[in-house]
Amino acid sequence: MALTPSFDAAVHASRRARVLAALESEGDRVVALLPNAKVFARNHDVEHPYRSGSDFAWLTGFDEPESVAVLRTQGGSYELFNRPRNPEREQWDGLRAGLDGAKERFGAANARTIDSLDDGLVELLSNADVVAWPLGRDNGFDAKVLAALAKVRLKQRLKIDAPTRFLDLSCILHAMRWVKDAHEVALMRRAAEITAEGHIAAMRTAAPGLSEFHLEAALAHAFRRGGSRRDAYEPIVASGPNATILHYRENDRALAAGDLVLIDAGCELDFYASDVTRTFPVSATFTKAQAAIYELVLAAQAAAFEMVRPGVTLDDVHNASLKVIARGLLDIGILQGTVEEVIDKDLHKPFTVHRTSHWLGMDVHDAGIYYRRGEAVRLEEGCVLTVEPGLYFRPDDTRVDECWRGIGVRIEDDLRVTAAGYENLTAAIPKERADIEALRSDALASGGAAAR
Ligand code: GLY
Ligand code: MN
Ligand code: MN
Repeated sequence: MALTPSFDAAVHASRRARVLAALESEGDRVVALLPNAKVFARNHDVEHPYRSGSDFAWLTGFDEPESVAVLRTQGGSYELFNRPRNPEREQWDGLRAGLDGAKERFGAANARTIDSLDDGLVELLSNADVVAWPLGRDNGFDAKVLAALAKVRLKQRLKIDAPTRFLDLSCILHAMRWVKDAHEVALMRRAAEITAEGHIAAMRTAAPGLSEFHLEAALAHAFRRGGSRRDAYEPIVASGPNATILHYRENDRALAAGDLVLIDAGCELDFYASDVTRTFPVSATFTKAQAAIYELVLAAQAAAFEMVRPGVTLDDVHNASLKVIARGLLDIGILQGTVEEVIDKDLHKPFTVHRTSHWLGMDVHDAGIYYRRGEAVRLEEGCVLTVEPGLYFRPDDTRVDECWRGIGVRIEDDLRVTAAGYENLTAAIPKERADIEALRSDALASGGAAAR
């Protein structure tokens, strides 16, 4: 039966209470509806592993498909539509909480079978003034709500009021998910620890002749051993010129002496992501050109870290990183001009490609807006962001000297904003060049087999 190991009924109850309080400010007859994620077919008779929607998991902790959560301001009630027990189906597909389980273990005041959803929606919308749901995220569910609305409108002559206002529930949930509570911080710290074990294992495993996916296996082994059941996203293990492809996914090239390997990977622990990138040499040391680019990206990341505290914006963080990158690209002769020109004319853009940060939480690119009315959102204590500058010189990029071509470096850590600045959740993963080179020479001396 789907119960995440860290499930804490009180945590989810307090989140629902916060959502209900927000809904109450919209009126006294508000109904909120939240469908869980769908099951996706992978190929014939095979499904993709099921993962509840992040909003749904945050609100309910209930981890079964075919479920819909309902909050009503009248009575402050929480109900679930979910799958009833079914011994035959459960023998094929696994145990279900059932309607009793939804009430007894997941705190629902009432549970109804998911097969009754269409009629249930008509009942729930009858005499409600406001309906909130994640508008436009699930066309099938949108259609069900609108069909129920049409039926309720037909009942107005029977003294039944139909809703007249519609709210995007996602906005309410995402604003709350953006700032992490103590339960979430504990999970994100642990996810970061497990991710650190994976990166260190992969770094120790690398050796000429191994495939990129052998390092992927080292990551997966450490993640599962640490208690993470799945990755936060498909791991990127990009060696040599593949490191210049931002979301490289093939992971099937043979590592060669002299290559850099860029690994962007993070485990997911009980729905919470980590997102880390490290770049290291297959040989014991970086080449001179690789070292120059590496040190530049590392310095850009350090400058970005310096900016992180409540009140600043991701633009501030990005700009701090860009200034260092611009200065460095000028100093090593890849660009000409002044720092201001490089930034104002986006001369760095062919090599930096992406911005420096995104929000992190239950989704690797987490809930939370970036701009409102054109103004960048300001960091607040408790939000979590990545800081991930990179430089990428495509192997065929004739704009740069040959010595830089094929080099890709990204360094990414996960920062939680504190009252005074930040906590780097992923600080334990080596990234000083001397530390990486010491680790790599030790691993090669022991046959590169430490984690194999
Ligand atoms: N791994 C995706 C990202 O770094 O944003
Ligand atoms: Mn990443
Ligand atoms: Mn990232």
